[in-house]
Amino acid sequence: MRTDTQTITRLEDYRPTDYLIDTVELDIQLDPAATRIRSVLQIRPNPLGVKAVPLVLDGDELMFRGLWIDDEPASADVYEATPQGLTIAHPPGRPFRLTIDTEVNPSANTKLMGLYRSNGVYCTQCEADGFRRISYLLDRPDVLSVYTTRIEASRDEAPVLLGNGNLRERGEAEAAGRHFAVWHDPHPKPAYLFAVVGGNLARTGKTFRTMSGRAVEIAIYVEPGKEERSHYALDALERSMRWDERVFGREYDLDVFNVVAVSDFNMGAMENKGLNIFNDKYVLASPETATDADYANIEAVIAHEYFHNWTGNRITCRDWFQLCLKEGLTVFRDQEFSSDERSRAVHRIGEVRTLRARQFTEDAGPLAHPVRPTRYREINNFYTATVYEKGAEIVRMLKVLLGEAEFARGMDLYFERCDGTAATVEDFLGCFAEVSGRDLRHFQRWYEQAGTPTVSVQTAYDPVARTYRMEFRQETPPTPGQPEKSPLVVPVLLGLVGEDGQLLEASSNKVREDGLFVLETKAESITFEGIDSRPVPSLLRGFSAPVRLELDLPDSDLLALLRHDRDPFNRWQSAQTVALRLLTSLAEAPANGSSAELADAIGTFLDRSGLEDPAFAAMILALPGETEIAQEIGRDVDPDAVHAARQRVKAELGRSLAPRLRDLRAAMRGSGAYSPDAASAGRRALGNAALDLIAAGDPGEGERLAAAQLEQATNMTDRLAALATLSLIPGQTREAALTRFGDSYAAEPLVLDKWFALQAAIPEEGTPGRVRALMTHPAFAYSNPNRVRSLIGSFAMANPTQFHREDGTGYALLAETVLALNGTNPQIAARLLTSFGTWRTVTAARRAQARSALEHIAAAPALSPDVLDIVQRSLAPA
Ligand code: TRP
Ligand code: ZN
Repeated sequence: MRTDTQTITRLEDYRPTDYLIDTVELDIQLDPAATRIRSVLQIRPNPLGVKAVPLVLDGDELMFRGLWIDDEPASADVYEATPQGLTIAHPPGRPFRLTIDTEVNPSANTKLMGLYRSNGVYCTQCEADGFRRISYLLDRPDVLSVYTTRIEASRDEAPVLLGNGNLRERGEAEAAGRHFAVWHDPHPKPAYLFAVVGGNLARTGKTFRTMSGRAVEIAIYVEPGKEERSHYALDALERSMRWDERVFGREYDLDVFNVVAVSDFNMGAMENKGLNIFNDKYVLASPETATDADYANIEAVIAHEYFHNWTGNRITCRDWFQLCLKEGLTVFRDQEFSSDERSRAVHRIGEVRTLRARQFTEDAGPLAHPVRPTRYREINNFYTATVYEKGAEIVRMLKVLLGEAEFARGMDLYFERCDGTAATVEDFLGCFAEVSGRDLRHFQRWYEQAGTPTVSVQTAYDPVARTYRMEFRQETPPTPGQPEKSPLVVPVLLGLVGEDGQLLEASSNKVREDGLFVLETKAESITFEGIDSRPVPSLLRGFSAPVRLELDLPDSDLLALLRHDRDPFNRWQSAQTVALRLLTSLAEAPANGSSAELADAIGTFLDRSGLEDPAFAAMILALPGETEIAQEIGRDVDPDAVHAARQRVKAELGRSLAPRLRDLRAAMRGSGAYSPDAASAGRRALGNAALDLIAAGDPGEGERLAAAQLEQATNMTDRLAALATLSLIPGQTREAALTRFGDSYAAEPLVLDKWFALQAAIPEEGTPGRVRALMTHPAFAYSNPNRVRSLIGSFAMANPTQFHREDGTGYALLAETVLALNGTNPQIAARLLTSFGTWRTVTAARRAQARSALEHIAAAPALSPDVLDIVQRSLAPA
């Protein structure tokens, strides 16, 4: 393997820049192949920096075209310009103006970082370090500048010209057929929040009145003809703005807020100041093309990017190690928003399911890292579930520990004190320490220590002494670079549940009024006094900490919690735990257990409360996923055995619950026009969960029902659910349905993505061949991240039996794709490669295959820093 030539960036090496850039004035002459950029920087020595040192500006694949210092042409011996940087050895020791001309080719930019074209629309992506692909700059988050941007383009090609901030001026340009717009953003910002857009786009908008009465023009821009599909996003934006005013007291701070949807985008969306740019799948929605899940995602991503305006933009990050400061906090905020807009309990279950599937998996593998990492080779590889999802969990724990009121005061202080700064995790925690008078240094360990802690609980009831005792222990496994772990501050919300489901009036001096027990040491116990009969403990209510919980309770206790715990999260969790125990033991030996008791309990649940909250009932019907079962088994996992165990339990549940499931399906049948609201979506979710189980129990009936639903469905949610059910039943009906679906939506890329994803997830021998065939489908393109993610990403992430095939063909398919994308879009290549993260947990034969696929990648020529970083960490000795 090659020796490591990449530079490592370390948190402890942080120091401020030696120069500051107060203003950036850009003049961008948009052209498909030769865009010229003039950048005028007002620079001065940083009082905190070193005097009289060279000025080194970042660049990446830039064509240098000229340089002026204080408007005088600079002679060639004054500077050194390469595509990767611009150095001025002896800059003036006082404020000066630096003018730089560069040229870039947006049409050739396949990395989708910097300035590129998507479907003929010019757009930019600058986070984390894409600005340097537009012009030379101190491209780091602690350099804040006021930007003024003049954009000029052909009026035919780009009638719409958008930038950050407020529109200052627009008009005809000198050159024939060209026009211009000047945008000015008064809020100092780092370069990663810069954006421009130019193209032929259709606008839908309205006026938003802020809480202080200011008018803000809010708008969504989409491909002409798709305006109808932007209304939901506009509505979600308005609701987000209102919610941030009401819940966090945050008011919007410009005259306009624009959202632009583009079809080629590396991630979900980007919070550029006043000009959010979105992957179109998180904007466009119509009942015909989008599922309920799509609507929910659009709402969440619109909210997320809007909320960044305060958590990320007004208060930004000092350095990229602090990424969780904006991402974890903003995910927390968007989760709270969605919970308020929808059902809090159902939303929480969804959050925990993704946390376990994505973040716990990451934490258990070679790519595990702390929420605030201390070193990186490629920052783009740290936009992870750990930074985002676990980062949000830390904020949630802080809220539980401090309580609502103190948490709110801490947030207020943070907004007040850190506004306009590039802040750190310490600055954030400092505000909460100050308002609460607490020492949060121990709590801060959550940011520093990787790995998922296990909390195990032993319980004992003493009928004579009438006491109930719980012994807690915590343990965090080693992760790369962190062999030894210390105890964390774990907030455990708990209650003792009596026969009827009421909480017992039990007290212990270690448990707060609201049921909070804080485990801060390796082991600690609590004793409750005056307990008349053996209670059932409900632990980690609402999933109060991102830990794995090991309980010594018998299934019967857990099923009692399913019946009547008042905490809906734990009702769901209890059933999941029972199912998970059964599934892991069946995966180890097929004779090891029966689903009868679980089926019985779920049946009783459906009879009593199946109709109360359909979305919740749908969650109860869903068994833990194969990823979660594999995670529970931990090592030498045989994905085929896991799949077989899960299939079998699904089939048994389907058979024993069949009459009830049929009734439920009938009861959930919608009438009237489609509405994406949470209650209607919940009914569809339950109806479709029932269909899925019926089909598992009786594929013949399932095939008939699904085919009929496919015919009659009036919306994409029901249509896709039917197709998903059919996709698991081999035969002519399935193949014909797939073909027809593909033909009907040939002109709808976002719908074809679902069709690609569904086929790539079929757990059958033939799937790798099917995926290869689909790679030649006219709609598939390596250049489009959504297509690659739906087809290849889904194969690697949602099809464990085929990805982890013992013959290695699944791994080979992935390796091939990673290498094909390595040169053109390294970010996407590296992200796909992370699907090898579980390779050490599978059986020896599979491990050997995975290792050779990884080594094949590692040995390839010209690996991008992104792919090199992931492949090396994946192969590093455990
Ligand atoms: N900051 C964005 C968000 O979480 C995500 C983001 C980071 C991104 N880097 C990106 C988006 C690169 C697109 C491309 O909201
Ligand atoms: Zn974000």
